[in-house]
Amino acid sequence: MSEYIINGRKKFDGIIKVQGAKNSILPILAGTVLCQGKVILHYCPQISDVETAINILRCLGCRVQRDNHTITVDSKHMNGYTIPDELMREMRSSVMFLGAILARTGYAEISLPGGCELGARPIDMHLSALVQMGMTFEENHGKIYCQTANSLHGANIHLSFPSVGATENILLAGVLAKGTTIITNCAREPEIVDLADFLNSCGAKITGAGESVIYIEGVDRLHDTQYSVIPDRIVCATYMTAVAVSGGKLFLENVIKPHMNSILSLIEQSGCQIEETKSGICIQSDCQLQKFPLIRTMPYPGFPTDMQAPFMAMSCFAQGTSVFVENIFDSRYRHAYELCRMGAKIDIQGKVAIVEGNRKNMSGSTVEAKDLRGGASLIVAGLGAEGTTVVKGGEYIERGYEKIEEYLSNAGADIVKI
Ligand code: EPZ
Repeated sequence: MSEYIINGRKKFDGIIKVQGAKNSILPILAGTVLCQGKVILHYCPQISDVETAINILRCLGCRVQRDNHTITVDSKHMNGYTIPDELMREMRSSVMFLGAILARTGYAEISLPGGCELGARPIDMHLSALVQMGMTFEENHGKIYCQTANSLHGANIHLSFPSVGATENILLAGVLAKGTTIITNCAREPEIVDLADFLNSCGAKITGAGESVIYIEGVDRLHDTQYSVIPDRIVCATYMTAVAVSGGKLFLENVIKPHMNSILSLIEQSGCQIEETKSGICIQSDCQLQKFPLIRTMPYPGFPTDMQAPFMAMSCFAQGTSVFVENIFDSRYRHAYELCRMGAKIDIQGKVAIVEGNRKNMSGSTVEAKDLRGGASLIVAGLGAEGTTVVKGGEYIERGYEKIEEYLSNAGADIVKI
């Protein structure tokens, strides 16, 4: 059980190179199952969710080597189709191995996914889409036994909600399916485009990724490839909120700015200065933060739900009342109660959170992370608060933030992990 100890209000002055995107590398690692050859992936973040995905691949019989930020997967000898219960529970996104395992072996056995407790998080859209593509399944004692009589076949699939995970599962199931799959109302996140670009680099035929309709023309096999994942827009934005509440200046290297439009405009509206350069973004803050206008979380390109918690932490230091509406998950405010232990004034009414911001109210305390982004928001609040903050439950934060204590302290913050 790790924890972070932070002494707040140290001004930033430094550089951070942004890690590769967690929500890209996870579905891409699932996709390596579809290649009968060797895949070399660059720019992979060193986070525990990636370790979990590597363990799943090894359980399936794939050979995986990791050398710092490069992962090599050889799935020629893959012979398994069951994901052990403990690995499914470790990470909700394990469910996206389902489409890939099914496409490769014709079978898949998984248990209902675990991961961050962000409400119910069903997988009904994943299952109904795969059934349309020829999968049959039965549920028994919390496990799902899936199979396809022959190989999967193309289908016209409409998603009732642009689910990121369901879109990814259909992409992974469709690249080797017989015929063409069309997904309408699909997710448009940059990580979906990254997955499609990776699969196309292996010989898949996917068009339309990033739009609301994706076309997948099934092919017979995928070949070797080398691929670099995109930078993590959520980690980058989290570091920006840390500067906003602490003050000072931070240069963020390796940023794809169009992926962050909804975030950059809000950060500027709060009173921070942002300068975009060729290789990244420079953010400067004097800590005189203005409150946010109403923030509604939406599917991409709207404001991302993963940034709701870090922005809520930032709003605790702004002058005035900020309002959040969490439209994506039905229970993503657990961090609010921990922020209140630090002096924040937050009122939760169902999907709505009302924050009476005032920097003077915020002081260090001992708080507990309950999920990945909520945990990151507590680190942000600790960096801006007077005095010492202890963030327990650090293992949640390690799931998605590579060496956050090292990168932040090298840039001027006073933070250690024990
Ligand atoms: C992905 O989760 C991300 N995880 C999440 O990031 C992110 O918050 C989310 O997309 C939204 O952008 C990964 O990519 C590994 P969804 P996912 O399917 O795929 C409901 C982080 O912090 N739903 O778009 O689980 C679901 O309950 C994580 O990095 C169904 O009802 O998100 C949720 O309310 C957290 N049935 C909503 O849709 C389904 O079959 C959005 O879920 C599938 C989803």
